[in-house]
This record gives sequence, C-alpha cells and structure tokens, in this order.
Amino acid sequence: MTIRDPAAADEADWRRLWVGYLAFYGEDLAEAVTAATWRRILDPASPVFARVAEREKRLVGMTVNVLHEGTWTVAPICYLEDLFVAPDARGTGLGRALIADLIALGKEQGWSRLYWHTETGNAQARRLYERFATADDFCRYRLVL
Ligand SMILES: CC(C)(COP(=O)(O)OP(=O)(O)OC[C@H]1O[C@@H](n2cnc3c(N)ncnc32)[C@H](O)[C@@H]1OP(=O)(O)O)[C@@H](O)C(=O)NCCC(=O)NCCS
Repeated sequence: MTIRDPAAADEADWRRLWVGYLAFYGEDLAEAVTAATWRRILDPASPVFARVAEREKRLVGMTVNVLHEGTWTVAPICYLEDLFVAPDARGTGLGRALIADLIALGKEQGWSRLYWHTETGNAQARRLYERFATADDFCRYRLVL
C-alpha cells in the first residue's frame, strides 16, 4: 500500500471513493461541486489537497484537506475535511495510515496544527481518532448562507 498525491488519471477511482463517502453521509452533492473539488485537488495553487492510498493499482482510501492561515499561529493549519476508506479495505490500518501520513507531511512542511471533526455517534471513526488525540469540548455552530 502506498499513500501519495493524486494525479489527473486518478479521477474515476477518486470519484468512486467520493461517491461512497457522500453515500455514507447520505449526501447528494451537485456534480458541479464534485467537479470543482477535484479541480481544486489537482490545482497546486488551491489550499485544498488530497492524499490517496493505493493498493494493487486501486485507490482504497483518501483524505481531502484544506490548509489555512490562523490568528493564533503564523504557520499554516490543516483541516482534515474528508476521510474515507473503501468498505472492503477497512480494519486493515488504512485509516490510521492516512492520518499518520498527514502528521508526517505536516511535520515536514511546518504546519502548526492538524484538526478534524466527526459526528459524536461515529464510534468507528472516533475509536481511530482517539489513538491520535483527545476530543475537546468545543461545539460547532453553522449557518448556511
Ligand atoms: C473511519 C474509517 C476511516 C476507519 O478506516 P479503517 O481503515 O477501517 O481504520 P483502521 O483499519 O486504520 O482502524 C483503526 C482503528 O479504527 C477502529 N476500527 C476500524 N475498523 C473497525 C471496526 N470494523 N469496528 C470497530 N472499530 C474499528 C479500531 O480502533 C482500529 O484500531 P485497532 O485495530 O488498533 O483497534 C472507515 O471506517 C471509514 O471510511 N468510515 C466511513 C467514513 C467515515 O466515517 N469517515 C470519517 C468521518 S469524519
């Protein structure tokens, strides 16, 4: 298994993971949004980037992330927005490896923080996350504009 940056040729494979991820959340995004996300992932000038896990020439997992500035730190902060492992590849350490990959990348590139959210009831994901960090008690407020 290797974890690497995605390339243009990965589009169909990445979209398969993306569709699975959206289905997990019961979300049905417009095609224009998915297309824009993929375009941003490939655009080195965009703060959106992805990492993909490949096993036997097939993508089996991904993170999609956003690097942003902050007011409490000079160095960039990384928001891990989407984490997904293909159902038939779960429980074999891929989720853990994808987070470890971001930590290594962040140390290499000098990010100050890596953070992510999940639903409180997502026990499987939380069990994985607890191996890296402890959840704080901040609540999220969100307005759709
Ligand atoms: C959460 C998710 C990314 C985990 O990926 P994964 O590759 O299965 O995770 P790993 O194999 O690295 O497992 C890491 C830990 O997760 C937990 N875990 C993984 N599979 C599990 C399962 N079937 N049942 C219970 N816990 C499980 C375990 O704590 C495991 O560590 P351990 O084996 O040392 O106990 C994957 O289940 C997934 O894509 N889920 C759907 C999308 C999602 O929830 N994304 C995160 C939303 S923010």
